[in-house]
Amino acid sequence: MAAKKRFKRIAVMTGGGDCPGLNAVIRAVTKTAISRYGAEVWGIEDGYLGLIENRMHPLAYDDVSNILTVGGTILGSCNKSNPFAFHVRSGKSVRKKDLSDLCLEHLRQHDIDAMICVGGDGTMASAAAFAKKGLPVMGVPKTIDNDVWGTDVTFGFNSAVTTATDAIDKVHTTASSHHRVMIVEVMGRYAGWIALYAGVAGGADVILLPEIPYELDKIADYVHARSQKGKRFSIIAVAEGAKPKGGKPFVAKVLKDSPDPIRLGGIGTTLADQLEKMTGRSCRAVVLGHVQRGGTPTALDRTLATQFGHHAIEMLMKGRINRLAVLKNGRQDSVPLSQVAGRIKTVPKNHPLIRAGKAVNTSFGV
Ligand code: F6P
Repeated sequence: MAAKKRFKRIAVMTGGGDCPGLNAVIRAVTKTAISRYGAEVWGIEDGYLGLIENRMHPLAYDDVSNILTVGGTILGSCNKSNPFAFHVRSGKSVRKKDLSDLCLEHLRQHDIDAMICVGGDGTMASAAAFAKKGLPVMGVPKTIDNDVWGTDVTFGFNSAVTTATDAIDKVHTTASSHHRVMIVEVMGRYAGWIALYAGVAGGADVILLPEIPYELDKIADYVHARSQKGKRFSIIAVAEGAKPKGGKPFVAKVLKDSPDPIRLGGIGTTLADQLEKMTGRSCRAVVLGHVQRGGTPTALDRTLATQFGHHAIEMLMKGRINRLAVLKNGRQDSVPLSQVAGRIKTVPKNHPLIRAGKAVNTSFGV
């Protein structure tokens, strides 16, 4: 940990996929730094891409007024710009280049002496690497996926779960009218947090998570058993990263210029086809996609984002640098960025919500 230092000009950036609550963090960081510490705040545009391209600007107190409830990020974001392995294209070939020294030079040019990185695991891996190079950095855990290691919860997750739950609720009535199996595919990458929470909240009959590889015939049997009991429809909430036992997750596309090139997706429609053949029932799939990342943040995400943003500045000003603001057992805390890099938090198989789901006869496809 560095000695206590008076940070005078702090940059803030939002990296990776966006989510509701980013603006609430930008607001909390800026207002806390200006009003409590008389510091200046600069906004880096489009995540690490703006740092590489030297695009950043001062954020005044009034610039962050009236953004608390607004989704997205006023700074822009990018999920393809790792400054330590930036994809540089020449003709048809692409090579990776370390541009981190250029980024540090850009910060020096603007007399910026610390950086607040708001992002998920990829953003935190670069944040930890910048910290290793001597830049004081603070992390704020963002993502709808809730998969950042070291924190009970990320902001953005609750808003995504609320959207996904609303979709499951709506699908329920049409499933019931048409006696169908409706499959709702939600995001979450390799973690099943959104599927688990939205599935339980929406009363899904089957919940499929990446952490519990499913058996197709068990799902078909479950749907059949429900119809034998007079329940003529079923709702399946499936995480985009779910996979059959012994199989692999479904890949929608591979983005060669992205640090995290795999984009998952497609399981919903495949399951609908397979289950229609196996059960003889009409099956339809709904893919929620980026709808889950949009809209106004829920009250919970607004408060969480405000708390995280404030905490990051307080820790920085107290010299507790190079740490990620987290909630641990419901309490405000922090963990070293070096511990977060390269790890993700998946759903434990004995999670209380899985146990509760099983107790109300929800199938997890096994
Ligand atoms: O990490 C957030 C997330 O929305 C994931 O749930 C999803 O797999 C991915 O980003 C989609 O990425 P993109 O915005 O590049 O399509």
